[in-house]
Amino acid sequence: MQKTAIYRGEEIKEAIPVVREMPENYIAELEMRTEQYVQQLRDFESRCLLPGFDQEQLQAEIALLTDSMLEACVRFEQQVNNDAFIVKTAQVEFREKTNAILSRSYLINRTRTWPQGHQGDYNTLEMAYKNSPLSEGIGYYLDRYMLTAPLAEGVRDRIVMLRELLRGALSTKPKQKVLDVACGSCREVFELAPAIKASGAKFVCVDLDDDALNFALDRLAHAGLTTEQVELRKYNALRIFDFETAVMEFGMQDVIYSVGYFDYLPDDFLIKLLNSLYKLLAPGGKIIASFKDVNRYRPHIYHWLVNWDGFLQRTEDDFERILHYCDLPDSALKMERVDSGSVIFYTIAKP
Ligand SMILES: C[S@@+](CC[C@H](N)C(=O)[O-])C[C@H]1O[C@@H](n2cnc3c(N)ncnc32)[C@H](O)[C@@H]1O
Repeated sequence: MQKTAIYRGEEIKEAIPVVREMPENYIAELEMRTEQYVQQLRDFESRCLLPGFDQEQLQAEIALLTDSMLEACVRFEQQVNNDAFIVKTAQVEFREKTNAILSRSYLINRTRTWPQGHQGDYNTLEMAYKNSPLSEGIGYYLDRYMLTAPLAEGVRDRIVMLRELLRGALSTKPKQKVLDVACGSCREVFELAPAIKASGAKFVCVDLDDDALNFALDRLAHAGLTTEQVELRKYNALRIFDFETAVMEFGMQDVIYSVGYFDYLPDDFLIKLLNSLYKLLAPGGKIIASFKDVNRYRPHIYHWLVNWDGFLQRTEDDFERILHYCDLPDSALKMERVDSGSVIFYTIAKP
């Protein structure tokens, strides 16, 4: 914005730092709100130590307080016109200012610091699956806040729906070849142990993270699955976007699935990857893929409270558009949503 003035008979224009000044006001407002939030959390922390306090009441109050803090963060984003730099800087500062108290939650601390070196690691996912707070004192209630968020619920529903979709696929014919892309802990695989043994299917599960593969190896051994039935492979899934490489390294597949991973891939790359996976399907085969639907969860938890911005905020329209740009027959697509709503599954069948 500019203001004009007359100087020696000529109009001069001077830039007014409106755009710069206003964020400063909004930043100050957010800082004040953040200080209040921290103070109120400290009060709650003291209440946790009192004998006979009402746990459910405290949980509800912490949820209300944190929801209202996040609403202030959303307002701030709008006030600064979603300026990416200003928002990112404010998010970093918010996390610094709240760290002493919020890091009492193991889950919040983990999803701020990512000890495996990458976001969405198998161990964090396992915590969501187990749905059991690990912290004490106020950390316990903050863990529960995270674990009851719509997306955490969606992720739990996702693993159950995946397991059942796979069970259905395995029942259609014996000895199928199955490829799991970015397998993480392989929870659905060991839960399907009896069905895998009965069907004679061969799973190949790939992930980049050694620790995820070791965890899965242990669980699969417990479930009595041999490497003949489930092979774990350290592999960079990005390589699969090249069909020639993929077919050489894995051969044609009856079922290819991936959950949680595609949300991290940009559209153009995802389209190439899906095209390659579709080519890798044997006739009668299917791809099972899941996506998070941003219209059904609050991304601000992941961008402000914790540092989990790697997965992209897509809507159902975005998935439709991505699938439209893939070389897939429309008739091949089937869509279904998990009960809690925040995750959508697509099954892509090859005639
Ligand atoms: C969100 S987790 C999902 C894991 C699992 N599918 C599940 O639903 O529990 C994403 C997984 O992708 C793995 N990953 C990330 N980038 C990868 C890559 N380029 N190649 C293979 N695995 C990758 C991570 O190690 C992590 O285990």
